[in-house]
Amino acid sequence: MHRFDRRRFIALGAASVASLLAPWGCATSRERVATRTARRVAKGDRLRLAIIGVANQGGANLDAVKDEEIVALCDVDATYLDAVGSRFPQALRFRDGRELLTNDKLDLDGVVISTPDHTHAPLAAMALRSGIATYVEKPLTHTIDECRTLAKLARDNGCVTQMGTLIHAGRNYRRVVEAIRGGVIGRVTQVDTWCPKSWCCGKLTPGAAAPATLDWNLWQGPTQPTDYVEGIHPANWRSHWRYGTGTLGDMGCHILDLPMWALGLDDPKWSRCEIYTEGPPLDAVGCPPWLEVSWAFPQPGSDPLILRWFDGGRVPPLVQELGAKDRQDYFGRYMVCFQGTRGFLMANYGEFAVLQVPDAPTVARSIPDSPGHHREWLDGIRTGRAEGEGSPLCRFSYATALTELVLSGTIAYRIGRPLTWDRRRPIAAFDADVRGLCTATYREGWRL
Ligand SMILES: NC(=O)c1ccc[n+]([C@@H]2O[C@H](COP(=O)([O-])OP(=O)(O)OC[C@H]3O[C@@H](n4cnc5c(N)ncnc54)[C@H](O)[C@@H]3O)[C@@H](O)[C@H]2O)c1
Repeated sequence: MHRFDRRRFIALGAASVASLLAPWGCATSRERVATRTARRVAKGDRLRLAIIGVANQGGANLDAVKDEEIVALCDVDATYLDAVGSRFPQALRFRDGRELLTNDKLDLDGVVISTPDHTHAPLAAMALRSGIATYVEKPLTHTIDECRTLAKLARDNGCVTQMGTLIHAGRNYRRVVEAIRGGVIGRVTQVDTWCPKSWCCGKLTPGAAAPATLDWNLWQGPTQPTDYVEGIHPANWRSHWRYGTGTLGDMGCHILDLPMWALGLDDPKWSRCEIYTEGPPLDAVGCPPWLEVSWAFPQPGSDPLILRWFDGGRVPPLVQELGAKDRQDYFGRYMVCFQGTRGFLMANYGEFAVLQVPDAPTVARSIPDSPGHHREWLDGIRTGRAEGEGSPLCRFSYATALTELVLSGTIAYRIGRPLTWDRRRPIAAFDADVRGLCTATYREGWRL
C-alpha cells in the first residue's frame, strides 16, 4: 500500500491519485466513466447516450446526436415517449429521469436534458455526480442556488458539459465578438437587448385534470405538488414563476449571450452590478407581460457599463431614435445594439451592421468556426476535454455566469427594488427576500 504523503498527493493531483487507487476499487465515478468512454472511443464505437425530455426541443436535440448509440429515452408523457421510442426500438424507456440516471447497466457516456427549466438542475446534478457528460437546455437552471451548485459539480467532477445556446456555435456571433473586441465601434459604453415575445400571465386552474398520457406528479419534479394547470404542458410552463422565468428566462440566455461573450462579462472582474427593473405590478403566479432590466457594472475611473433588456414589445429608446433617424426598422430586424465611443453595432442571430463609423476597420478573424453546438459536446466527450481549448464553448463554467445574469434580472423585478448583485457573494449574505428567490425547497424524493 502507498503511505499517504501530502506533498506527493499535491504533485500528482487528485485525479492521478484516484487512478493509483483504482485497482483497490476507490476510483471516482468520473474516472470510471472516463475509462470506459476512452475504451469505447479507442475501439471506434459510438457513444452511449440517454435523452431526458424527448419532444419539441428534446426531439431537436435527439436528432442532433442520433448518430451515436441512443440507449435510453425518458419522458413523462407516454404519447411522446412511445412516438420517439418506436424510432429507437433498442433504447430502454423510462418515465422517471432519476431511475434512468441510477441504472448502472446503461453504461452512459452522456445525457441530454431538455425538460422544462424546474427539472434541469436535480437531474443534471445526478448526472454530474455520476461522472456523466451532461448537455442541458437553457436557461441552465431555475434558481441561483442550482446554478452555483451545477458549476461546482461540473468543476469538481471534471465532466464535459454544454448548455443548449445553439446560436453561440453560429458564425455571426463570432464575427460580432471579433468586431467588438477589435474596437470597431470604440469602447463599448452601453448595450441594449430586446425580445418582442411575451411568455406571461400564467394562471392557476384548480381542479383541472391532467391529460391521461401525462404523469403530472413526475412532471412537477422537485416542486411542491399542486393541481394540474390547464394548458401548461407542453411549453406554457414558461409563463409560471414556479416552473419558468418568463421571457427573460426563456430568451435571455440566447440574446444576452452576445454581449456577455463580446465583453467578457463572465470574467470575475464583472461579477458585481447594480440591477434596476421596470415592469407591471408583480403577480405571484404568472410572469409579467413585459419587463425592462438594467444591469450597471461599475468600472474604475469611468461611468458604469450599462446592459439593458426589454421584452414584451418594449422598445429601447435609443434603438427607436436610431431607426427614426435612418428610416429603418432596427427594432424589428435586430435584437442587440452595442453603443460605443465611435458608433453603434446592431446584431441579430444571423447578421450585423455597423452604424455611424465611416472608416470602420476590418477585423481579422480570430475565433475558429464551431463544428456544431452538439458536435462540440460530443467531441469533448471523445477527447475528455471539459475545460480550456477543445472543450465546448457553452460549458457550465460559462453557462452558469450567463444563467446567473438572466436570473438576477428576474429576482430584482420580483423583490421590487434595486438590487446589488455579486456572483461571488454567497447566497446566505443576501437579504431574506433575495435569498428566498435564490433557492427552491425541494419536495421529498428530490435533491440538488
Ligand atoms: N436551445 C433552444 O433554442 C431551445 C428552444 C426551445 C426550448 N428550449 C429549452 O428546452 C427545454 C424544453 O423546452 P420545450 O419547449 O421543448 O418544452 P416542452 O414542454 O415543449 O417539452 C418538454 C419535454 O420534456 C418532457 N418532460 C417534461 N418534464 C419531464 C421530466 N420531469 N422528465 C422527463 N421528461 C419530461 C415533456 O413531456 C416534453 O416531451 C426548456 O428548458 C427550454 O427553455 C431551448
